[in-house]
Amino acid sequence: MRLVILPNSDDVAEFACDLFAQQLTNKPKSVLGLATGSSPTTLYQKMISRQKAGDLSFSQATSFNLDEYVGLSGDHPQSYRHFMNEQLFNHVDIDLARTFVPNGVADNPNDECKRYEELIALAGGIDLQLLGIGINGHIGFNEPLSSLSSRTRVKTLTKSTIEANSRFFGDDERQPTDSMTMGIGTILDARQVVLLATGAHKAQAIKGCVEGPVSASCPASALQLHEHAIVVVDEAAAAEL
Ligand code: GLP
Repeated sequence: MRLVILPNSDDVAEFACDLFAQQLTNKPKSVLGLATGSSPTTLYQKMISRQKAGDLSFSQATSFNLDEYVGLSGDHPQSYRHFMNEQLFNHVDIDLARTFVPNGVADNPNDECKRYEELIALAGGIDLQLLGIGINGHIGFNEPLSSLSSRTRVKTLTKSTIEANSRFFGDDERQPTDSMTMGIGTILDARQVVLLATGAHKAQAIKGCVEGPVSASCPASALQLHEHAIVVVDEAAAAEL
């Protein structure tokens, strides 16, 4: 695992944008693993600017998102499909038909998870996987005690994750309690992984990820097992190291 500590959150996003740009230049048909949450939003803005400037193209790329809420359809404003369309896909030259997010309203969520794994394999596997980190060390929606070899499946969210993500939901909106998420094993299969974390509220989780024992208690610690994992943090998120 490589650790990169940068002065601020903008530098973190810039570093990640360079990584994606390099990946897409070296292999225009890259399979990208993408993430939601606040951590990647500046990165997505930078990707949009670079694409508009002609310095970056997604035209031949395929993407797979990490996770989705069970029960939310892609047009629901809080769904991760909607988030991705709004924050990135609608503003760049990616072919929407090659952007994949688990279907939150599939008749059979377990079958949908299996299908998702098959689609990733059919696409040739993920070249570069982007991750954020939850304050409890989760990656995707792999909550603490998730198996380190888990595959895409349905996971019930912990109380702390539901609370942390409640800021995105209005008072009258029902917040889902279950998700479909790539497993830790699925994430570790990516050829390269980059995890972004900024802000003091992520410092404890980053300590567990980088310095803690490799343990299901901190799912992000599994990245220590990956030969090409980069953890990119600002100084505030590095404060406990
Ligand atoms: C959610 C997502 C994760 C994300 C995490 C942190 O639970 N499923 O993929 O990494 O939150 O989110 P944020 O970047 O908003 O702190």
